Amino acid sequence: IPVELQSHNVTQDVLDLLDTKSPFNTSEDLPSISQKDVKAALDRLASRSMVTYETKDAEQVLLTKEAEDIVAKGSHEYRVWAAVKEAGKVSIKELPNIVGADSAKVGSGNAFKNKWIKKDGESLVLVTDEVKDSTQETLKKIQESKTLSDAKLLADLKKRKLVTVSKVISYIVSKGEKYAKEIPVEVTDLTAEMLASGEWETANFKPYNFNALGAAQHAGALHPLNKVRQEFRNIFFNQGFVEMPTAHFVDSGFWNFDALFVPQQHPARDMQDTFFISDPPKADRPRPDPDTEAQLDAMEAGSRRLFATGEKREIKPRNYEQYFKSVQQVHQDGAFGSIGYRYPWSEDESLRLVLRTHTTAVSTWVLHRLAEDPRPARYFSIDRVFRNETVDATHLAEFHQIEGVIADFGLTLGGLMRFLEDFFSKMGIENLRFKPAYNPYTEPSMEIFGYHIGLGKWVEIGNSGMFRPEMLEPMGLPKDMRVYGFGLSLERPTMIKYGVSNIRELLGHKVDLDFIKNNAAVRLDKH
Ligand code: PHE
Repeated sequence: IPVELQSHNVTQDVLDLLDTKSPFNTSEDLPSISQKDVKAALDRLASRSMVTYETKDAEQVLLTKEAEDIVAKGSHEYRVWAAVKEAGKVSIKELPNIVGADSAKVGSGNAFKNKWIKKDGESLVLVTDEVKDSTQETLKKIQESKTLSDAKLLADLKKRKLVTVSKVISYIVSKGEKYAKEIPVEVTDLTAEMLASGEWETANFKPYNFNALGAAQHAGALHPLNKVRQEFRNIFFNQGFVEMPTAHFVDSGFWNFDALFVPQQHPARDMQDTFFISDPPKADRPRPDPDTEAQLDAMEAGSRRLFATGEKREIKPRNYEQYFKSVQQVHQDGAFGSIGYRYPWSEDESLRLVLRTHTTAVSTWVLHRLAEDPRPARYFSIDRVFRNETVDATHLAEFHQIEGVIADFGLTLGGLMRFLEDFFSKMGIENLRFKPAYNPYTEPSMEIFGYHIGLGKWVEIGNSGMFRPEMLEPMGLPKDMRVYGFGLSLERPTMIKYGVSNIRELLGHKVDLDFIKNNAAVRLDKH
């Protein structure tokens, strides 16, 4: 039965009853209707001032099954006495067969104590012809009134498992100011006709029910990672960064590694750490690609607006073949003042396809593009990367990187440290510490540690450095241009912010959709 219909019937029951009895008590006068349905009906009527009601919390003393039996058939001692009375004499051995084992056991003791019966050899005989079964009488009274004021007796009956005490809510209902035997027809809409005819003045409008809860909405929800990502995007945008186009997960080893001066024997290029793509087996050599160019044009449109100087700039078109050769040279033989790694560089290795292991692969082609027109620039990206890791509570095979790149003339390491302090303070992390580290593509390199106020401890929060000339000069960037780079994971700050300790609760097939649906918006603490 639909709830609305059900409560409608209950509403009518309440109105009918009030016609003859006001006030009444719902648990006594409408015992067969659940208190929940009664409450819904009462609220409906009360909002129309048709009834008023008070809530009453009361305790009810209820009989157990055994006690109900006693009310029906008498107490155990009574049953023993009655059996003896009927037969005149009962053998002790036979008693359980006549009155049942329970009654025989409990009842004969009490019947002796009450001096109702006595032993006569192996048998029982009567002492008195008439008895008063007070246990039965007491329980009968309780059954009728559902109360017992004698606390000592109540405790005793509870101990003997004859009664239980339970809480009941009931409502004392009286006729309200606008009581009627039926809910009058109610108008829910104000129409033009009602206004024209004047009917609106006397119409009985249905009142708003401000106690009604709205229906739960099954709307979409942003994933916590997306919410935190948006916060980081805002920090970057506020500092004049332009977002790099990261919408491709597969890249060649060239862009992911070689162009970054990562040697081809570097352990990170191992199958253990990198996912390789088997089909297609090989990437094209780096070449201009219309889709890529369109993405870079769109990005540049933003950066030119920010850094426009008004002057006509000279564009040095990129030469991909030249770049490819220069990268080979800087690895194999050394170039641009570097002695290189001095190993036979393999083009096939460079053209293997990989799932990008870092978004620095994207920074590389953005910087290569910058070499057309070298000028101060700030780029960032926040997107997915892939590593062939063993999955555990803090590692996934795919996660998100936040990456920033700043290109300018005359940059120093001190400037990078100052910038990072500023950047991380915007997410509530102060007092950075820097630890010398190693990346093939940056020198110097620094791991970033921060004192997290919320966690009250030092946490590793990122990696950074100044890109090497071996990476920048083959692109054609000028010798005096310096480029900062830094990266951190998006998962880490999100886990801290949402108090998630297992990364698998945040990402992947084990994620609880309710967790995503019910999580609040996030604001990084700003300083
Ligand atoms: N690519 C590095 C990483 O995967 C982050 C980084 C980016 C470091 C740029 C230095 C410069 O952790």
